[in-house]
Amino acid sequence: MEGQCSIGMRKLLYTLFFLSATTFLKPCEAQTAAGNATWALLLQNAGIAAMHAAVTFMGPVIFLDRTDIGPSQIALANNVCRNDSLDQTLTYDCSAHSVMFDPASNTVRPLYIATDTWCSSGQFLPNGTLLQTGGFNDGVQKIRWLSPCAADGDCDWVESTTNVLQAGRWYATNQLLPDGTQFVLGGQFSNAYEFVPSNGLGLFNLDLLSTQGYFDWYPFVHLLPDGNLWIFANRDSILLDYTTNTVLQNYPPITGEPRNYPCAGSSVLLALDGDYTQAEVLVCGGASVMAPGNVTAQYPASQTCGRMVLTSATPAWTMFEMPIRRNMGDMVMLPTSDILIINGAQNGAQGWDSATNAALNPVTYYPDTSTFVVEPATTIARVYHSIAVLLPDGRVLIAGSNCHILYTFTGDFPTELRVEAFSPEYLDPVNDPMRPQITTAPEILVYNTSFTVQITIPTAPTGVVGLTLVSVPFTTHSYSQGQRQIKLPVTAPTAIAGSATPAYSISAIGPVSGTVAPSSYYMLFAVNNGIPSTAAWVNVQE
Ligand SMILES: *[C@@H]1O[C@H](CO)[C@@H](O)[C@H](O)[C@H]1NC(C)=O
Ligand SMILES: *[C@@H]1O[C@H](CO)[C@@H](O)[C@H](O)[C@H]1NC(C)=O
Ligand SMILES: *[C@@H]1O[C@H](CO)[C@@H](O)[C@H](O)[C@H]1NC(C)=O
Ligand SMILES: *[C@@H]1O[C@H](CO)[C@@H](O)[C@H](O)[C@H]1NC(C)=O
Ligand SMILES: *[C@@H]1O[C@H](CO)[C@@H](O)[C@H](O)[C@H]1NC(C)=O
Repeated sequence: MEGQCSIGMRKLLYTLFFLSATTFLKPCEAQTAAGNATWALLLQNAGIAAMHAAVTFMGPVIFLDRTDIGPSQIALANNVCRNDSLDQTLTYDCSAHSVMFDPASNTVRPLYIATDTWCSSGQFLPNGTLLQTGGFNDGVQKIRWLSPCAADGDCDWVESTTNVLQAGRWYATNQLLPDGTQFVLGGQFSNAYEFVPSNGLGLFNLDLLSTQGYFDWYPFVHLLPDGNLWIFANRDSILLDYTTNTVLQNYPPITGEPRNYPCAGSSVLLALDGDYTQAEVLVCGGASVMAPGNVTAQYPASQTCGRMVLTSATPAWTMFEMPIRRNMGDMVMLPTSDILIINGAQNGAQGWDSATNAALNPVTYYPDTSTFVVEPATTIARVYHSIAVLLPDGRVLIAGSNCHILYTFTGDFPTELRVEAFSPEYLDPVNDPMRPQITTAPEILVYNTSFTVQITIPTAPTGVVGLTLVSVPFTTHSYSQGQRQIKLPVTAPTAIAGSATPAYSISAIGPVSGTVAPSSYYMLFAVNNGIPSTAAWVNVQE
């Protein structure tokens, strides 16, 4: 939007606009960092293939698979076994199907899940507890919670036997709402949405999902700053006022291939900033409409992305090509607000044995210039049932991949138990002189209220140092439910006298409301010229 990056210019500009004593600025647009991205193998055997993942504010990362997959490679703790007569593969099972991965030690701790979480959904609550919904078989209507603990803790899943979903949910999508409830939508067994907790409300049918055949599982849902929900299925999308069950707008269909399961593209809401009146989405990848019906043909995956400004008076998709075609690609929003597209395959579709030709090179998309960089390749294929999530230190954690109904370690795409990390260019030590470190940050950010962060940077910053709030999504099937970023208004960094390492103070204003950032734990990154700090965890609240 603005090409200028100098503090002087912006100060003048904003002072003229607001005639205010405190000058809040927009950070310089992200730069492509110097240096090289790298891969690292963190753990040879996580015990389970991670189908779902979520990073907790306590540090450890929850990995979750299905229960009806036979024995995993990690035993439940304390010689506990699951005796579930409803399990379709192994009724007496002493192995774990969920683990806590600790990124500090690269170790896992087994967790106990009672019922089947196959292709389920979830989202963190305002207090950092993960609420997890649905699955298959005996798990299809279940609600589960996990209140996170430190790596040496013993927190575990808690499942309700009485408090259940109103519809079975297999391949549904959740979105945290400003009042702390969750919007739960779709899946194979329901074209309706519901709220958890229901607050006495029932099921609301959505025509968008009744009309797409089977190309609408794991629909894309983004909460917009005006409080409405953008919902995308197959190629179509709507704006929904969920408080009145009114479809406010129908958007034009995206060009090209279907984008949801079983064609599996992905979607993000681009970082929100300024006065939060604009909201723009990015949808990338997918598979030929023919691919799920004919996996022997191995049709090429989609090579296109579309961007659409949802708040425009005349919304339209702007289409462009990725350097590498891809289905089952995860889109991970980096602290710089650039988008990493990682994992997936170049041919075929989602599902068991349905894809070939793994996409081993991630690409980074720079929204400010709409350009891509092809990143170095991994050696490990991550196709169906794999995950990628951002860690607070700026690395991207990658796990899972299982194209088979059970654990199968032979043939093409063997079940993958290894855990890797991808370190983007900005983590190259060549960037360390510009790397901010947050030394003081509040634990609580109150809506629309100013706060101060102190940082150190080895080399004096030449422009505005941004502060970006990054949500922690629930990631499964190439889509991160609840992923969002907010670039906060900041003042120019003010030098703090008398500190050994050059230190600076930055003032900022918390997100204006819960429609911009629903109350929850967020990672707060300082970003200097495209180089992010490690995040501080903050709880955004009223
Ligand atoms: C990045 O990798 C290239 C090719 O291997 C190498 O020439 C270059 O020195 C590397 N850059 C840094 C900053 O290490
Ligand atoms: C599992 O539960 C069933 C039914 O309650 C019981 O008959 C069986 O003995 C249990 N199996 C084991 C190994 O505990
Ligand atoms: C978090 O909030 C949920 C929902 O209100 C509640 O059930 C749970 O007990 C809370 N957890 C903690 C640790 O306070
Ligand atoms: C699948 O595609 C192949 C290659 O295009 C074709 O030969 C075959 O007839 C197709 N099969 C079906 C069931 O459509
Ligand atoms: C945010 O605070 C400003 C200044 O106090 C006020 O003018 C504005 O109405 C507030 N916005 C919201 C959404 O509360």
